[in-house]
Amino acid sequence: MKDQLKVKAAQGVLKYLKPYTELGVGTGSTVDIFIEILGKSGLTFSQIFTTSQRSAKKLESNGFQVLNLSEIKKPLPYYVDGADEIDTSLCMIKGGGGALTLEKIVAEISRVFICIVDESKYVKKLGKFPVPIEVIKEAIKPVCWTIENELGGHPVVRKNFVSDHGHKIIDIHNLSLGEPAAMEQRLNSIPGIITNGIFANRKADTLIVGTSSGLKIFD
Ligand code: A5P
Repeated sequence: MKDQLKVKAAQGVLKYLKPYTELGVGTGSTVDIFIEILGKSGLTFSQIFTTSQRSAKKLESNGFQVLNLSEIKKPLPYYVDGADEIDTSLCMIKGGGGALTLEKIVAEISRVFICIVDESKYVKKLGKFPVPIEVIKEAIKPVCWTIENELGGHPVVRKNFVSDHGHKIIDIHNLSLGEPAAMEQRLNSIPGIITNGIFANRKADTLIVGTSSGLKIFD
């Protein structure tokens, strides 16, 4: 059922995209479905950039050529990605798939961020889903200490997982997210954290939610 709602959301994006322009494509199971739909749509883009090795492979197997992010020369007109949670003001928690660092970079260089989710991800308040952070190895213990003692969250190092960049991911449970933008900035200020998965300072512009009663669009 969830997958059907992801399909609805992914199909809903197509009418927003302008062919023959640049496109940013994120990472995750919803994006995997989007890539398959895109492959069958016949739409072509001048350049495609993505946020993980997983999505690059998927795009290539669906007939798209993927450029390295270092080749981005101007803002991307559209970036399509999923989220682990998104609230009514379109702030998000992302990084469940561990691709948060490139996701934040591509979000920042995109003019329009279109988020596609099934209805289980659309929430009144962020925080049930733990906030992922990508951390350099040497900083894991100090970062965990700061989170526990100064932020009041419960850090759990993700088991058997290394990011595309060779780093560990820590999932922070029970973090107070009353002010997501402030918490995003606070996490940004802790040495050793490369990226945190709160997307509040650069949130989504358009949200497409697949629900059992059809598509819901917010922008
Ligand atoms: C990848 O790092 C994440 O930010 C994904 O965009 C997010 O976890 C949504 O993934 P699913 O579509 O698999 O739920």
